[in-house]
Amino acid sequence: MSQDSKADSKTDLQVKAAEVSATGLANAAESAAGGTECICLADFEPLAKAKMAAQSWEYVCAGAGDEITVRWNEEAYRRIRLKPRILVDVSKLDTRVNLFGQEHAFPILLAPVAAQKLMHPEGELASARGASAAGATMVVSSFANTRLEDVAAVAQNPLWFQLYAQTDHGFTRELVQRAEAAGYRALCLTVDTATTGARNREARAAVKLLPIPNFAKFAGAGNDVSLHTGSQNVFKSVLDASMSWKEIEWLRSIAKIPFLLKGVLNPDDAELAVKHGVAGIIVSNHGGRNLDTLPATIDALPQVVEKIAGRMPVFVDGGIRRGTDVLKALALGASAVFIGRPYIYGLGAAGEAGVTQVIRILRREFQMAMALTGRSNVASIDRSLIWT
Ligand SMILES: Cc1cc2nc3c(=O)[nH]c(=O)nc-3n(C[C@H](O)[C@H](O)[C@H](O)COP(=O)(O)O)c2cc1C
Repeated sequence: MSQDSKADSKTDLQVKAAEVSATGLANAAESAAGGTECICLADFEPLAKAKMAAQSWEYVCAGAGDEITVRWNEEAYRRIRLKPRILVDVSKLDTRVNLFGQEHAFPILLAPVAAQKLMHPEGELASARGASAAGATMVVSSFANTRLEDVAAVAQNPLWFQLYAQTDHGFTRELVQRAEAAGYRALCLTVDTATTGARNREARAAVKLLPIPNFAKFAGAGNDVSLHTGSQNVFKSVLDASMSWKEIEWLRSIAKIPFLLKGVLNPDDAELAVKHGVAGIIVSNHGGRNLDTLPATIDALPQVVEKIAGRMPVFVDGGIRRGTDVLKALALGASAVFIGRPYIYGLGAAGEAGVTQVIRILRREFQMAMALTGRSNVASIDRSLIWT
């Protein structure tokens, strides 16, 4: 963790003007897109759309099927009402959380998003730099367009690595060892993608993905592995559809860093995750990109949290667009949240500066929501915050 983010972690309500007024980004984004200032996360979308190639835009937005789950992920947060307390001293806000022995200045991390050179020429390097400047941890996708070592080389803040396990165990082991050697602090195995979903919108736009250098040495793949969505064979060769709990035990046994499962929705699977000794789980429906009509993740979270009953940290992603969403997720039992598309819109709109600004705005909104509900630290955010 950088000194900066540590120093910043106990922030009072007088957040620096630059953070609130988005000056840094405003400059970058103004020159990029004609004078619009980004005040909230939604403001980045039109800027990103204007700058990104049409196919890339479709790739980011796309969900599975009729995109019902994509919509539910966001809508579900809007239905949840907050129950504030008044006359609580919130002159000092402490947003710090400790995850697996690491202190994070605030409970917002960046979810793994593949193929970021589609959104910006500097791809994952820009995201990692932008995340570091804002003091956030980024989870780097194994389907990145940049080698995992190269992303690690530019990051000032700890990174986590997302793993798509392979049928070739030797290859998977090597990938894990490479991530550990490069200093990644945790491993998130994605378990909700035995195959890709029916991404009609992606297919219509004929999205072509770029090469994935982390897989350059993948057996028989040559130097140019890419995940053309139309080419199921290539995709199959890099996703392990036969994966079961046996592999989880094996992976856990080889991983030296905390090992998490990403993509748990069913409380019974959460229980199995505890039994198989994983370090944490991420309640996720892959941003609605795999199976349509799965519930919104914030609707699934409470049952998972109840089942886990404090035995390990539970995280959530999907549809988080406001500081109040972060607050609600924590109130319902999440230890921290991940955002996906919002920082990618920041990346598309203004590169590194856009990513930084997205995180700062969300963090600032989260602080406001804490103050206005009478919560001065993360430990005091609990279910009593939810209006029932
Ligand atoms: C363009 C795109 C690419 C993604 N790539 C990956 C990936 O490589 N691995 C993974 O586990 N999840 C991937 N995800 C899912 C995200 O990690 C996360 O679960 C989701 O984006 C959260 O929802 P949100 O976009 O509403 O914040 C991707 C999501 C998007 C939008």
